[in-house]
Amino acid sequence: MESFSPKTHQQSHDKMVDCINKVMLHTAVSCWQPFLGLALVAVFISSAFSCPTRCECSAQSKSVICHRKRLQSIPDGIPMETRLLDLSKNKLQAVNPDDFSSYTHLEELDLSGNIISNVEPGAFSPLLNMHSLSLKGNRIKLITLGVFTGLSNLTLLDISDNKIVILLDYVFQDLHNLKTLEVGDNDLVYISHRAFSGLLSLETLTLERCNLTMVPTEALSHLHNLVSLHLRYLSISTLHPYSFKKLLRLRHLEIDNWPSLDVFPANTLHGLNLTTLFVTNTNLSAFPYQALRHLSHLTVLNFSFNRISHIEGGMLRDLVRLREFHLAGAQLVNMELHAFQGMRWLKVLNVSHNRLDTLERGVFQAPENLEVLLIDSNPLVCDCRLMWILQKRHSMHFGDTQPECSTPEGIRGRPLRDVKEPLLSYYVTCSKPKIRENKTQTLIVDEGQPMRLHCSADGTPRPVVSWFTPRRRQVTSRNNGRVTVHTNGTLEIRATEAHDTGVYICMAVNAAGNDSLSASLAVKSRGTSDRSLYANRTSQYYTDPSNTTANGTNLYNMTFGLDLKTILVSTAMGCFTFLGVVLFCFLLLFVWSRGKGKHKNNIDIEYVPRANGSGAEGAEQAGPRRFNMKMI
Ligand SMILES: *[C@@H]1O[C@H](CO)[C@@H](O)[C@H](O)[C@H]1NC(C)=O
Ligand SMILES: *[C@@H]1O[C@H](CO)[C@@H](O)[C@H](O)[C@H]1NC(C)=O
Ligand SMILES: *[C@@H]1O[C@H](CO)[C@@H](O)[C@H](O)[C@H]1NC(C)=O
Ligand SMILES: *[C@@H]1O[C@H](CO)[C@@H](O)[C@H](O)[C@H]1NC(C)=O
Ligand SMILES: *[C@@H]1O[C@H](CO)[C@@H](O)[C@H](O)[C@H]1NC(C)=O
Ligand SMILES: *[C@@H]1O[C@H](CO)[C@@H](O)[C@H](O)[C@H]1NC(C)=O
Ligand SMILES: *[C@@H]1O[C@H](CO)[C@@H](O)[C@H](O)[C@H]1NC(C)=O
Repeated sequence: MESFSPKTHQQSHDKMVDCINKVMLHTAVSCWQPFLGLALVAVFISSAFSCPTRCECSAQSKSVICHRKRLQSIPDGIPMETRLLDLSKNKLQAVNPDDFSSYTHLEELDLSGNIISNVEPGAFSPLLNMHSLSLKGNRIKLITLGVFTGLSNLTLLDISDNKIVILLDYVFQDLHNLKTLEVGDNDLVYISHRAFSGLLSLETLTLERCNLTMVPTEALSHLHNLVSLHLRYLSISTLHPYSFKKLLRLRHLEIDNWPSLDVFPANTLHGLNLTTLFVTNTNLSAFPYQALRHLSHLTVLNFSFNRISHIEGGMLRDLVRLREFHLAGAQLVNMELHAFQGMRWLKVLNVSHNRLDTLERGVFQAPENLEVLLIDSNPLVCDCRLMWILQKRHSMHFGDTQPECSTPEGIRGRPLRDVKEPLLSYYVTCSKPKIRENKTQTLIVDEGQPMRLHCSADGTPRPVVSWFTPRRRQVTSRNNGRVTVHTNGTLEIRATEAHDTGVYICMAVNAAGNDSLSASLAVKSRGTSDRSLYANRTSQYYTDPSNTTANGTNLYNMTFGLDLKTILVSTAMGCFTFLGVVLFCFLLLFVWSRGKGKHKNNIDIEYVPRANGSGAEGAEQAGPRRFNMKMI
C-alpha cells in the first residue's frame, strides 16, 4: 500500500515539473499540460516506489516513515532510491554493515529511540549522500573507530542520550563536513584529546548532561571553525584559565546549569572573541569582570539565575558594544553608579526577579538609548531615584509583567505605568540627608585603644555615610580592616595608632544631596620619642582648612603641655642613665687594663642607651653613640 502525504499545489507542481524533465522527456507530454502530466507521473511512480508494510511512504519526497512500528529489524521492501528513512522508536538492537548498504541515495536516517547497543564499524560507509544521522536515545556504550567512516557529507550527527562513557581519539575523523554535533550523554566521563580531530567544518557543538568534571580543553582545541558551543547541565565546579584555547571562530558560548560552578578565573575566556555569552544557573556569587574585559565585540550577555548580588561601577566599561544585558533571577541588591559605563548602545536590560530597591539613571552611560527594561519583581522604592524611569514609562517596554512600587505606601502595588502625574510629584520624592549629631565630637584616646566616632543621618532615600580621614582617604562600610564604618554610620578604629590623630569628616550622601560633620581625634602616644613627628602632625592639623573649631585649639594646647613635661623628664632620666653607664664603663676598663697591664691602644666603646620602663626613650633618637677614648 502506498500513501501520499498531502502537499501544497505549488510543491506538487514543482516536483511534477522535475519528474517530467528527468524521467519522461521521451514522452509526448508537454509541460504546459499539467493535469495529463500528473496522471502519468502517478502511474509511473506507483510501479517504482514500493513501501514496506506498516510504514508510510511518500514517492515525491522519497521518504519512508516507520515511526513507532515495533520493528525488531530493518523492514524489507524499502525502495532503493529512498532519501529519508525514519526508523525512530522501534526495537532495533544493532546496526550491521549490510543493513543500509543498498540505500546509497539515503540523505537522512533517523534511528533515534531504539535499543541499539552496538554499531559495527563501516555500518554507514556506502552512504555518501547522507547529511543527517540520528542515533539519539539508544543504548550505545562505545563508538568504535570506523563507525562513521564514509559519511563525508554528513552535516548533522546526533548521538545524544546514550550510554557513552568515553569518546575515543579519531572517532569522528571522516566527518569533514559535519556542522552540528549533539553529544548529550548521561555518562560521558572523558573526551580523549583527539576525539574531535577531523571535524573541520563543525560549527555547533552541544555537550550536556555528562559526568565531565572539567572542560575538555584539549579536545575542543581541534575545532577551529566552531561558532557555537553549548555546555549545559554539567557538574563542573571550577573553570580553569585558558579553558577555551584555539577556538578562534567561536562567537556564542553558553554555560548553563552548572549548579556547582563558583570559580571563574580572569583568564578563563582568554583568546575568545565572543558576541554572545551565557553563564546562567550557576553558583557564581561574584561577577567575573576580569574574565570578560577583552570581549569588546560582545553584544548579548546573559548572567541570569546566578547568586550575584552586586554590579560594581566602571568594571564593565570595556564591553563597548553590548546591547543586551540579562541578569534576571539573581540576588542583585545593588547596581552601583556607572555600572554600565562605556555601554553606549545598551538597549535591553533584564533584571527582573532580583532584590533591587532602585535603579539610578547614573548607572547607565546612555540612558536615553534604553528601550526595554525588565525590572518587575523587585522591591522598588519609588522615590526621586526612579523618577527618570517614571518619566519614560510610556515609551519604555517593561515586558509582560509590569513593575510596581513596594514603597511608599500611597502607591504600593500600583504598576508604574498607571501612576498618574499628581501622585508622582506627591510621592516620588527625596529629602536631603541631615546628620543627627549637631556637635563636633572630640576624642582623646591612648594609642592602641579602639575609638568610635558617631554619625547617623536621616533622609529619603536612606543616606550612605562615609568618612574621610585626616589624610583624605575615604572609608566606607566596605573597608573592613583596622578602620571601618558601620552601617549606622559610626567610624571605628579597632586599635588606634599615633598617626590617626587629626580631623575626620563624616559625609552623608543620598540622591537629594549631602550633609557633613567634622570630628577630632587625638591619639596619645605611649612614648614621647616621636616628639618631632607629633609636632609635625599638630601643625598639619592646624593647616587643615576644615578645622575651624575652638576644640582644635584646646586639643593643641593640651597635647603640647603634655609633650613638654614628658620630654623634660625623659631627658633628665636619659642623662642620669648615660652618666651612670659611662662611669661604670670607666671603672670596668680601669680594672681590666690593670689586670692586663697593657693599655696603650685606642679602645672603641659602643654605647646604646637603654629604654627605661617609664617610656623615657629620650635618647633613642640620637641612636647608638660611639666614643673614642684614649686610655691613659
Ligand atoms: C556531497 O554533496 C555534494 C553536494 O552537496 C555533492 O556534490 C557531492 O557529490 C557529495 N559527495 C559525495 C561523496 O557524495
Ligand atoms: C554519571 O552520573 C550519574 C548521576 O550522577 C550516575 O548515576 C552515573 O553512574 C555516572 N556515570 C558514570 C560512568 O560515572
Ligand atoms: C553554592 O555556594 C554556596 C556558598 O558558597 C554553598 O553553600 C553551596 O553548597 C553551593 N552549591 C552547590 C550546588 O555547590
Ligand atoms: C571579533 O569578531 C568580530 C565579529 O564578531 C570581528 O568583526 C572582529 O574583527 C573580531 N576581532 C578579532 C580580533 O578577531
Ligand atoms: C538567559 O538565560 C536564561 C536561562 O538560561 C533563559 O531562560 C533566558 O531566556 C535567557 N535570555 C535570553 C534573552 O536569551
Ligand atoms: C528576562 O528574563 C526572564 C527570566 O526572568 C526571561 O524569561 C525573559 O526571556 C528575559 N527577557 C528577555 C527580553 O530576554
Ligand atoms: C555635596 O553637595 C554639594 C552641593 O550641595 C555639592 O557641590 C558637592 O559636590 C556634594 N558633595 C558630595 C561628596 O556629594
